[in-house]
Amino acid sequence: MSERASEAGLHSAFVGADQVQCAPASVRGKALPDVVAGRYRIERLLGVGGMGCVYRARDLLHEQFGDPAPLVALKFLADSLDQSPDGAALLYSEFALTRHLYHPNVVRLYTFEVDTDCQRAFISMELMQGLTLDRLLCEHPLGLPWKMLRSIALPLLDAVVHAHRRGVLHADLKPSNVMLCDDGPRLFDFGLGQAEEGMPGLARLSRTRFNAWTPGYAAAELLEGAAPSACSDVFALACVLYELAGGKHPYRRLPATQARTEGLERELRAPNTLPRHCWSALRTALALDASRRTMTASELHAALSRVPFWRARWQGRWW
Ligand SMILES: Nc1ncnc2c1ncn2[C@@H]1O[C@H](COP(=O)(O)OP(=O)(O)OP(=O)(O)O)[C@@H](O)[C@H]1O
Ligand SMILES: [Mg+2]
Repeated sequence: MSERASEAGLHSAFVGADQVQCAPASVRGKALPDVVAGRYRIERLLGVGGMGCVYRARDLLHEQFGDPAPLVALKFLADSLDQSPDGAALLYSEFALTRHLYHPNVVRLYTFEVDTDCQRAFISMELMQGLTLDRLLCEHPLGLPWKMLRSIALPLLDAVVHAHRRGVLHADLKPSNVMLCDDGPRLFDFGLGQAEEGMPGLARLSRTRFNAWTPGYAAAELLEGAAPSACSDVFALACVLYELAGGKHPYRRLPATQARTEGLERELRAPNTLPRHCWSALRTALALDASRRTMTASELHAALSRVPFWRARWQGRWW
């Protein structure tokens, strides 16, 4: 926790969900100053999501010491959540979960801080430059060629495998939470993430107020009240990969519960650009019932990495 957090009286947010307190409402929600926490000059808004606003900022401290690339991204809670008593703890939870991961395809976070003037908590992190996958899909409405899809899918799956091995569930995998940068995809926005078995020092938030699952990517069991799991992450990721492969969402963007009622799983067809040997694994990962979704992120990674028999032979591996 940053020292600034306790200065601002937000230390209680880390004690536990029921005891979370924050600054009084009268001082919360103040407009952001030009320079936040005496250090970051806000330059422009990068994006707004359901939970937060992300700005590009210049780290004046690093710049003063000669850092040639002092730009960072700062994430603040959206005003509506900033008014919530658990707001800062929610942001801290995102920080702690992401910081628990060390992977080249997961966004790198730097600090969790609170600006003492406006009393708003924020995360500082690497400034990603690239296209989110939803925007990439707008540029490729019929889906990506297999080679390109594979170059995104494998590192992304690897990042999710890593997160699951470290006991971290993302719980909000969707195209707008993955940025394609020059050196590959980056998974970000662990705002709805959870530690599979709790994490020392991390408040257990009463998340019922925050569970805003994204309907087109949330597994049916989540929509029916189950807790997020590695299996629900696999469903969301499989929807993203299917969409990247053929340009279309597997279940017409309907909530998974409705897709099940309408029997859409029976109508699933392999996207054209997906090699045949990958389809059976992806189809299993898209199962609407968790009991039939017998595919881990690691197994899906293995299936998509496999070189089919005929190609291995053609490449001379089987002679
Ligand atoms: N580190 C970063 N570098 C550059 N842009 C970023 C960064 N983090 C977030 N963004 C931009 O800000 C947008 C919103 O960020 P983020 O997804 O973290 O917010 P959110 O409110 O949690 O979103 P959601 O609606 O998915 O809950 C992203 O879609 C992206 O365009
Ligand atoms: Mg997001």
